[in-house]
Amino acid sequence: MNKVTTDILLTNNIHIYATAEAASIKVARVIADEIIKKRSLGQQLVLGLATGNTPKMVYQQLVRMHRDEGLSFKNVISFNLDEYYPLKETHPLSYHSFMNQHLFDHIDIAQSNIHLPHGEWDVARLGDYCKAYDQKIKQHGGIDLQLLGIGRNGHIGFNEPGSAFDSATRLIDLHEQTRTDAAIDFEGIENVPLQAITMGIATITNAKKILLLAIGTRKAEIIKKAFQNEISPEVPATFLRTLPQVSYILDQEAAALVGPLER
Ligand code: GLP
Repeated sequence: MNKVTTDILLTNNIHIYATAEAASIKVARVIADEIIKKRSLGQQLVLGLATGNTPKMVYQQLVRMHRDEGLSFKNVISFNLDEYYPLKETHPLSYHSFMNQHLFDHIDIAQSNIHLPHGEWDVARLGDYCKAYDQKIKQHGGIDLQLLGIGRNGHIGFNEPGSAFDSATRLIDLHEQTRTDAAIDFEGIENVPLQAITMGIATITNAKKILLLAIGTRKAEIIKKAFQNEISPEVPATFLRTLPQVSYILDQEAAALVGPLER
């Protein structure tokens, strides 16, 4: 494959970078620019955040920009996509811990502006808590910018295959492949929670701007399906193709199986 040093605009919204680092720097730059733009208008940015290996370098870059360039997160209100259920917030593999470790502990975001679904929400009131989560996003005017990864079965957030286009934030059973992929971190599939709370597809697709980041060879197969399979709940990421506000930021490895695209 040709060495790509800058992004190639294949369509309006698919950008392929030579390396995962270059793709991550681009995503971090877009997020930083949105924060700065909103601040200059005296407004807050409602930022949807993701977990997993994929966004780690993006967060590294944002932390670096905070440290070296004075990027402030004081005008950011964050909503995370998902959390394992049940799982204690303090568990080292909770998404609460992940976000603290990779981003929140190193920037100046106000604690009161951080929102994540809770792995400790009382099961009897779970429906209410999920509704309240979506409600809170609406109260803040909706998500301005949503960062997304993609699971190897096409999930976005934890919207597993079968998730409806109009689904809201809810409890979901984790797919076998998702649990298998998480087994290394949890040191055995038997330790991986069976369920999770996830923003719904509708919650995600209501965002004004969506950046899907995919890096590495292990994402090549699902990226091909996300672009080429018929649009259906079987591969939830295919729903994104119906939306004009989605940009795909890929490294060459993740884009390796994508055939020629119209320019
Ligand atoms: C995780 C998260 C998703 C993430 C995906 C891919 O389980 N719930 O939000 O996008 O699976 O993870 P990774 O980036 O580690 O490949």
